[in-house]
Amino acid sequence: MRKQIVAGNWKMNLDYSEAKALLQDLFKLNKKFNPDTEVVICPSAPYIGVFAELLADHNWLKLGAQNCYYMDNGAFTGEISPIQLKSLNVEYCIVGHSERRDNFNESYDLLSKKVKALVNHGITPIFCCGEQLQVRESNVYREFVMKQIEDSLFAFTAEEIVKCVIAYEPIWAIGTGKTASAEEAQEIHGLIRSRISSQFGEKVASEVSIIYGGSCKPENAAELFAQKDIDGGLIGGASLKADDFCQISNSF
Ligand code: PGA
Repeated sequence: MRKQIVAGNWKMNLDYSEAKALLQDLFKLNKKFNPDTEVVICPSAPYIGVFAELLADHNWLKLGAQNCYYMDNGAFTGEISPIQLKSLNVEYCIVGHSERRDNFNESYDLLSKKVKALVNHGITPIFCCGEQLQVRESNVYREFVMKQIEDSLFAFTAEEIVKCVIAYEPIWAIGTGKTASAEEAQEIHGLIRSRISSQFGEKVASEVSIIYGGSCKPENAAELFAQKDIDGGLIGGASLKADDFCQISNSF
């Protein structure tokens, strides 16, 4: 059965002491988090090493990274490899967030290499897709999102794709307070699952978690997560408040 997942994307927020304080707040809420939900936090890269140690006694909370490179090691100044992440018990890594696609020109091909490297090293990629507002309004958003997925993921085998999580994040909903309606989100989640099914088979499609991101918060999470193809959320702003993040984990 596929997992229900709530992943916090802290982005480039919080200084070190603020990040540790937020982690302590999450620890205090331990018993209140939904035990049937995979709860993941993705802090900024410099904090991952210390967080790995602090999380050693809290295995209900999984550690994720926000980005990585695809090579194992070498002369790639400033980059982080999946092997390095693995050595710190990182279990998830966001790939292809729209902020990286837009600000750092990450191509479909680069993202494909990152996903492959992560899967090879036993880290679950959270592969992001989603359309800009003008694409949504021009009505070709379905084809646009399917192309993002096909170009980066469809050269993989069924064994590889089943190890990925997909996050549908319409860019017009990220950090804007404007959430996709549950119906709008479900439409794309359903399409993603049926496209995976036609490519890799129904069983594989039924095992891939597809989560929603874009202004997901305690007020709208339950309606979104009630949709049959929405398996949780990638949470930005609301993951910076321990109570909100905890409440979202209980919205299934
Ligand atoms: P948001 O961000 O929840 O603040 O909209 C989501 C994301 O970018 O992953």
